[in-house]
Amino acid sequence: MADAPKSATLTIGDDTYDLPIHSPTAGPDVVDIRKLYGQAGVFTYDPGFTSTASCDSTITFIDGAEGVLLHRGYPIDQLASKSHYLEVCYLLLYGELPSAKQLEEFESLVTNHTMLHEQMQYFYRGFRRDAHPMAIMTGVVGAMSAFYHDSTDIHDEHQREVASIRLIAKMPTIAAWAYKFSIGQPFIYPRNDLDYASNFLRMCFAVPAEDYEVNPILSRAMDRIFTLHADHEQNASTSTVRLASSSGANPFACIAAGIACLWGPAHGGANQACLEMLKEIGSPDRIPEFIARAKDKNDPFRLMGFGHRVYKNFDPRATVMKQSADEVLELLGVENNPVLAVAKELEAAALADPYFAEKKLFPNVDFYSGVILEAMGFPTSMFTPIFALSRTVGWISQWKEMIADPQNKIGRPRQLYLGETARDYVDIENR
Ligand code: SDX
Repeated sequence: MADAPKSATLTIGDDTYDLPIHSPTAGPDVVDIRKLYGQAGVFTYDPGFTSTASCDSTITFIDGAEGVLLHRGYPIDQLASKSHYLEVCYLLLYGELPSAKQLEEFESLVTNHTMLHEQMQYFYRGFRRDAHPMAIMTGVVGAMSAFYHDSTDIHDEHQREVASIRLIAKMPTIAAWAYKFSIGQPFIYPRNDLDYASNFLRMCFAVPAEDYEVNPILSRAMDRIFTLHADHEQNASTSTVRLASSSGANPFACIAAGIACLWGPAHGGANQACLEMLKEIGSPDRIPEFIARAKDKNDPFRLMGFGHRVYKNFDPRATVMKQSADEVLELLGVENNPVLAVAKELEAAALADPYFAEKKLFPNVDFYSGVILEAMGFPTSMFTPIFALSRTVGWISQWKEMIADPQNKIGRPRQLYLGETARDYVDIENR
């Protein structure tokens, strides 16, 4: 690309303003507007932040037009096939792939922090049995700040490190116990002789009454799902964590805020909504009806698992997830899964429909993940908790990057005010 101009000129009335342009190592240039209000007395306006870079970062790069996702420069398809979740955690947290020794030390650190403070289980007993696991996770993770006071000082690098490891290590236990509580089964404690994904599956599906052997194929598929959801640039929940952290709030409170944001069906809640939609469709012959609804401006229905704010091409994670879905369901002997059949027919029908092509709506990460998770035995209510578990390392990595940034200041957007101008109070007898 030709050398980018070093500044942009903005003309307002008779005045012109030079705005610096910063060039990235990859992706679009950015126009620096930090001084615009001070110079010109105007705000920029960008609801939903479709054209706004909120920060600089070195962690994840997305090219939405090309369907590229890089974590510290490594393509997601290579990480999904050649790496594993805890190695990807190390990469996201520290910027480089670990040596064998570094990886062993990191995995040992995480493994030895998977237990919760014994009193935390009483939080679970305060919820109704039918509480959504995301409601439980939001509450329990926020409550961690009431238990782990020795890792809440964000200005202490060691405490930041301890909080990071605690969150990554304990999320599988928190999520698994939310599931166990919802089905009325006893909590299963983590085991140090199991890898991260196997530990999670065992805590979810084992019962004290008998031994439980983790299926290595399912464990590998679970680990791959964790990896595919680990981080994704400045998405809504990551931006929530950054904004909450900008006030100096402790890491547990900020991650709880991220979990709450992820829960929405437009974001991480889409995997649950997608599977429920596929079940509602029920059979391929009803697909045209639902595609018509998705295209109908007067119908709020959207195809869940389709579309993305950034990807205007295939979500590279969906491609890997689709391969994994085929493998897992074949290995489980459920390749004739009717939900998977509807998913594949729906994807083909939507991609052949001009509406979706014109609007660049492709399957996203949530489209196939639910099919795999259901085949593995999870209820739909556990899909987003698994997304939250996976994304914790992304939130933490972005949080650490922001806290260490000397430019870090409290995030405080302004507004385009369209309300009443000043007016005097009217006594009630005169209204
Ligand atoms: C995640 O940001 C991230 O990185 C998120 C994520 C991550 O890893 O953190 O990737 C995870 O959240 C994936 C997205 C999961 N959400 C869904 O699958 C829900 C269904 N998708 C949509 O709600 C929507 O596509 C969004 C929310 C994902 C993106 O919405 P945008 O970018 O704000 O786009 P938009 O709502 O402005 O839609 C643009 C047009 C609209 O039509 P017009 O008004 O231009 O006529 O496309 C249409 C929309 O109606 N459209 C859809 C659609 N998504 C958008 N029409 C039918 N079905 C859909 N799914």
